[in-house]
Amino acid sequence: MSAQQLNDRVWDVNTRVAAVVDLQFGDTGKGKIVDILADRADIIARGTGGANAGHTIVNGGKTFVCHLLPSGVARDGEGKVSIIGRGVAVDPGALCDELSSVERMGGTWNGLRVSHNALLVLPIDIALDRLKDVADGNGAIGTTGRGMGPVYQTKAARTGLRVNDLLNRGVFIEKLRRNLDARAALLKGFDEEVCRKVFASEELGAFWDARAKMFDAGAIADRYFRLAAKFRDAIADTDDLIHAGMSEGKRVLLEGAQGLLLSVEYGAAPYQTSSDCSLAGLALGVGLWTDDVQQVINVAKAPYMTRVGAGPFPTELGGAESAGWCATRRRKDEGIDNINSLDPFLQGAAIRQVGNEYGATTGRPRRVGWLDLPLLRYASYWGKHRGASQVILTKVDVLNECQKIRLCTGHIYEGEEYQVGQAVLKKGTLLDRAIMDTHVLERCTPLYSDYPGWGCPLGKEMAWKDLPVNLQGIVGAIERQAGVEVIGLSMGPDREDMIVI
Ligand code: IMP
Repeated sequence: MSAQQLNDRVWDVNTRVAAVVDLQFGDTGKGKIVDILADRADIIARGTGGANAGHTIVNGGKTFVCHLLPSGVARDGEGKVSIIGRGVAVDPGALCDELSSVERMGGTWNGLRVSHNALLVLPIDIALDRLKDVADGNGAIGTTGRGMGPVYQTKAARTGLRVNDLLNRGVFIEKLRRNLDARAALLKGFDEEVCRKVFASEELGAFWDARAKMFDAGAIADRYFRLAAKFRDAIADTDDLIHAGMSEGKRVLLEGAQGLLLSVEYGAAPYQTSSDCSLAGLALGVGLWTDDVQQVINVAKAPYMTRVGAGPFPTELGGAESAGWCATRRRKDEGIDNINSLDPFLQGAAIRQVGNEYGATTGRPRRVGWLDLPLLRYASYWGKHRGASQVILTKVDVLNECQKIRLCTGHIYEGEEYQVGQAVLKKGTLLDRAIMDTHVLERCTPLYSDYPGWGCPLGKEMAWKDLPVNLQGIVGAIERQAGVEVIGLSMGPDREDMIVI
């Protein structure tokens, strides 16, 4: 019922294109919202990122985890078209693995189309990404190791290969050689030990000449053309497909990846991903303008939030101890389950357990903190579309048993005097909208308002008026202080675990 209500709300008579955008650091559960809205969409398209994403969809008792594929592939049997757009970076190995896993689950991918203009991730991109993270040690960004930084650099450097090159072997080899030559010196800069660690993986080692410290272009070409045989019939001009579909009256759903706070345009360097995860990046990444989009559904976790990898996170429960713990572990926090612990580190670990906050791509524990409204206010500014920033709050049920909910209502700058444009920050400056500058964010402490929890399960049959008043009050505070309009609450992994307001 609630899935139907959300579809009724988004797909009104005027909606041809709708978009789902994450307003935080990714992992907000937008895969579920995309899956619901896919009910009435004809085309589901991704426009940014690559196999660094991890979207979990629970549909009809089956769980799909998509990294590179649009979530719409779970609906292939219904005749829907799934598109990997021009803004995506495609790793053919990751793509083939995912296609095989769709087949193993009894699914099909006949409706998949991959943009001929999408960037092609090469083994050297993955290697440079991992080499840098290993060499940087504790100072590393903590990327997903899928080659995103290096491959998007090649777009700007004009040396990147495109998916279309998989259709023309001669051109592929020529471009590959130029690409490898342009970056040979970078590889030589990493020491033996770091190289040994990174090239131990079969995925990279098979193409690497350790003595010459060079990649073998022939071996890469052989493998890429073998892989491409699986999906070469799906390579197409997807911009044209989308435009043609729209003129035939088809409905298009744009699926965001990562989150606005990680965007290469709007995040805080260097703790970003390398594509633009905003609405603008998403639209351009499938060959559309933002003006082509009629409905934008922003998604934010609440009243807690998470971050994976390094970077400032003012409300993190347990602070640096939590960040260190999450950076070095790959398993669950077994036995830590007191969500009302007075020790912030333990409380954060308990929320992580209850919310199953472990990366879908890397298995890394996600860092957990209270909802940061200055960050949400910043993100909602960019999430605004036609005058409003409509948001669905997700994973609300995770805090059902939490007795005290904290909302961060301001950032207090604690550093030395620092100038941002014409504004001068001094120790003690209070900010109600985050300043996206790592120097500032790392020196901000949160100002909290505390709210009593709601202390009961949330049922899918509840309407807004049935919700506990404490929760209604928290939602109202979020709306006022972040400048958003909350249009729904998601309260569990199932499609119907939702309230549409
Ligand atoms: P990259 O995108 O692999 O280069 O990683 C850059 C930063 O973005 C790291 O902090 C990653 O943890 C983070 N990141 C990338 N993809 C995701 C995602 O899908 N969810 C959450 N964090 C992500």
